[in-house]
Amino acid sequence: MQTLSVELGSRSYPIYIGAGLLARPELIVERLPQKTAAIVTNTTVAPLYLAALRRALERCSVGVVSITLPDGESFKTWETLNHIFDALLEHRCERGTTLIALGGGVVGDLAGFAAAVYQRGVPYIQVPTTLLAQVDSAVGGKTAINHPLGKNMIGAFYQPLAVISDTDTLATLPSRELAAGLAEVIKYGLIRDALFFDWLEANMSRLVQRDAESLAYAIERCCTNKAEVVGRDELESGPRVLLNLGHTFGHAIEAGTGYGAWLHGEAVATGMLLAARLSQRLGLLAADDVRRLAALLQQAGLPLDPPELGLERYLDLMGHDKKVAGGRLHFVLLKRIGEAFVSAEVPRAALADVLDARAAHARA
Ligand SMILES: NC(=O)c1ccc[n+]([C@@H]2O[C@H](COP(=O)([O-])OP(=O)(O)OC[C@H]3O[C@@H](n4cnc5c(N)ncnc54)[C@H](O)[C@@H]3O)[C@@H](O)[C@H]2O)c1
Ligand SMILES: [Zn+2]
Repeated sequence: MQTLSVELGSRSYPIYIGAGLLARPELIVERLPQKTAAIVTNTTVAPLYLAALRRALERCSVGVVSITLPDGESFKTWETLNHIFDALLEHRCERGTTLIALGGGVVGDLAGFAAAVYQRGVPYIQVPTTLLAQVDSAVGGKTAINHPLGKNMIGAFYQPLAVISDTDTLATLPSRELAAGLAEVIKYGLIRDALFFDWLEANMSRLVQRDAESLAYAIERCCTNKAEVVGRDELESGPRVLLNLGHTFGHAIEAGTGYGAWLHGEAVATGMLLAARLSQRLGLLAADDVRRLAALLQQAGLPLDPPELGLERYLDLMGHDKKVAGGRLHFVLLKRIGEAFVSAEVPRAALADVLDARAAHARA
């Protein structure tokens, strides 16, 4: 097992990464303020992992309630959040109850937000079971639900007590979901870790084949990067914003095609390529770097071409993104592989060029 740490003073917490961690309830129990917990999961993950986790905790005398949500990005809503509150109140869960998010990023974001506001805040622990959640969403304390007008628009910064990533759970993950996680993995290399990007180019086929050692290494490297960024800029007033590379485009794709049609990671993959092409179009990024990114995304099995929503619709959807400040859209752009920065100076003509899917395809 690897142990990393997110350094946030008195709110610092560990990230445990390893095989078989669901069978190690002490990692959870040692952090509980009170021996009561509510496991929040969904209808897909529950039959796979809920009973094992629940039994392990009960053997340690923890009183456990479980709350099983419908599965899917389209359920990352106010109604589902309210369902969590209904269950917590019906079971008379008190302030010392710890919520445990068992599932992917959707469950993690919902349970984290529920923990942030239930009785003005209860503790929570992330037990991510998708690659995307293990490398990204479970770490860093961003919690949210979607709004029809914008992705993740309602939420809170609220840090967990611990993140426990059992890499064995990735064995049951559908290939399309594994690929979606690889998009966020590639993101870390692109933004701030050129050596990791090189490593990914050499090892992508191992990751796609779920080689356990390679996956564990990638998860650890991503979490090290994320923990560093979050430790420096918890509330995203500075460098943390770079972790949103590809997300302004990606969120527009998710909202514009209807939540769930494109997986978050797929939308981010295409969004990162759009950001790279935009950077190239603005004379910032070399064509060869764009080609390397496209090749790596393709090797991971990720989509390259954006859906044709039309320029006006894209601009409208992106106008709702959180990267709007003072009415101006901000884009995370690339100078080279391993170096990203934020720009508010993106002419409409450049956006029009990169968002024209056929033209983009012809260039690739
Ligand atoms: N909070 C953050 O910092 C942050 C960062 C990145 C993404 N996100 C959010 O995360 C969400 C995407 O997360 P995701 O990609 O994990 O999607 P997800 O939670 O929808 O999980 C993907 C699918 O895999 C299933 N699943 C989960 N674990 C499984 C397992 N071990 N075996 C088989 N099936 C399993 C889920 O039920 C679901 O059907 C988006 O809502 C995105 O906005 C949040
Ligand atoms: Zn993301």
